[in-house]
Amino acid sequence: MKQEKKRNSFSGSIGFVLAAAGSAVGLGNIWRFPYLAAKDGGGLFLVLYLILALTFGFTLLTTEVAIGRKTKQSPLTAYGKINEKWKPLGIIACLVPVIIMPYYCVIGGWVVKYLIAFLTGEGKQAAEDGYFTGFITADVEPMILLCVFLFAVAFIVFRGVNKGIEASSKIIMPLLLLLVIGISVFSLTIKHTDEAGVVRTGMEGFRIYVIPNFEGLTVQRFFTVLLDAMSQLFFSLSVAMGIMISYGSYVQDDANLGKSINQIEFFDTLVAFLAGVMIIPAVFTFMGREGMEASGPSLMFVSLPKVFAAMGKVGNIIGAMFFAMVLFAALTSAVSVMEAVVSSFMDEFHVSRVKAAVIETVIALAGGILVCLGYNKLYFELELPNGSVGQILDIMDYISNNALMPVVAIGTCILIGWIVKPNMIIKEVEKSGCTFGRKRLYVVMIRFIAPVLLVVLLLKSIGILTII
Ligand code: PHE
Repeated sequence: MKQEKKRNSFSGSIGFVLAAAGSAVGLGNIWRFPYLAAKDGGGLFLVLYLILALTFGFTLLTTEVAIGRKTKQSPLTAYGKINEKWKPLGIIACLVPVIIMPYYCVIGGWVVKYLIAFLTGEGKQAAEDGYFTGFITADVEPMILLCVFLFAVAFIVFRGVNKGIEASSKIIMPLLLLLVIGISVFSLTIKHTDEAGVVRTGMEGFRIYVIPNFEGLTVQRFFTVLLDAMSQLFFSLSVAMGIMISYGSYVQDDANLGKSINQIEFFDTLVAFLAGVMIIPAVFTFMGREGMEASGPSLMFVSLPKVFAAMGKVGNIIGAMFFAMVLFAALTSAVSVMEAVVSSFMDEFHVSRVKAAVIETVIALAGGILVCLGYNKLYFELELPNGSVGQILDIMDYISNNALMPVVAIGTCILIGWIVKPNMIIKEVEKSGCTFGRKRLYVVMIRFIAPVLLVVLLLKSIGILTII
């Protein structure tokens, strides 16, 4: 009889928790969470986010990790192993990281560029108007930096589960947390007088961030905030893209899943919250309330460099620390995206890790080059169904995040909630002898509440539902 090759596994809970938290903590925590919190009236968003994390997020994360551990398969093959007819869902779940990987690496390259700029004392230039556009529309530089980032990720994945993913997370994640805490403390202590003589402090900005603002709160607005929090959480936990299934498949059978999942959620939420503490007070102090309207790339690569420049000499150091931290966050997330694809290729086509990693690197490189060209030779403007205008990067982001991810999550809820029944997941969590806390909540969430919320989210993100 052919002996199945033994699957790798994380050496212990800490390795798993740090690797999964490394995936969860990414660009979304840094450039989207603080912006949404500021836009949605501070505290209210934070409270809703927390409630959703403990209910909705917990349900999806537990489900995926348990599917991975039970089937010992990666996304492409795991769904089919649970139920033969559901194999196509695995294909979509694997397609998501295939689409995300190229553009995530392009953005990773941008982060490398800014880190180098601040390390070499060029922070001031980076803050000038047109610097960012000039850089991303250049012919070769973005492609070279894409390669730097992609090859670093590929190297870690190529080294394998223990020597690559686990070992790198154990070094990077504590460093990341240290940087986040350091910059947050600095941000709270700053003070600035603008040209009009108005004095603003970091603490005032912090208050805007955390104190709930119920002004003009209507039922409709409440739902907008709720949906913002939900879509953010969904992206932030790295669910619905196969990642947590493939990491789950490396968790040992005697590990306490419930405890690990709580720790992952705690880590992810803590870093998201602290990202707000780093960014909101600093932006508020130096740019006032208007400065807080930016999010995504324009917050990170346009507004923040201006804030660092306004800090004077210390701005170069803080800027370098900041972009080092962002690079760490992006690296561990990209590693998880690549691993989801690589493990899928290994399980489906029975190829070696090296071969699978090389194939995925080539795909990501080709896609990444296309994304870079989208800003110069292939430039066009396309209006997306949700009203925004974008280039190749935005289109890939739109297809994966707005359309495919909710579909994967809805499919997962139906498969587990109604076809194979939630007991399968509960048994999997409890098999190591630990209790499944919030069991009843889990069943109600996976069968009823999560799919309904997800359908609403899908309708909103593809532009069909427009009232909230
Ligand atoms: N969860 C990550 C974040 O919050 C994002 C991510 C996206 C991670 C894609 C992996 C893959 O930024």
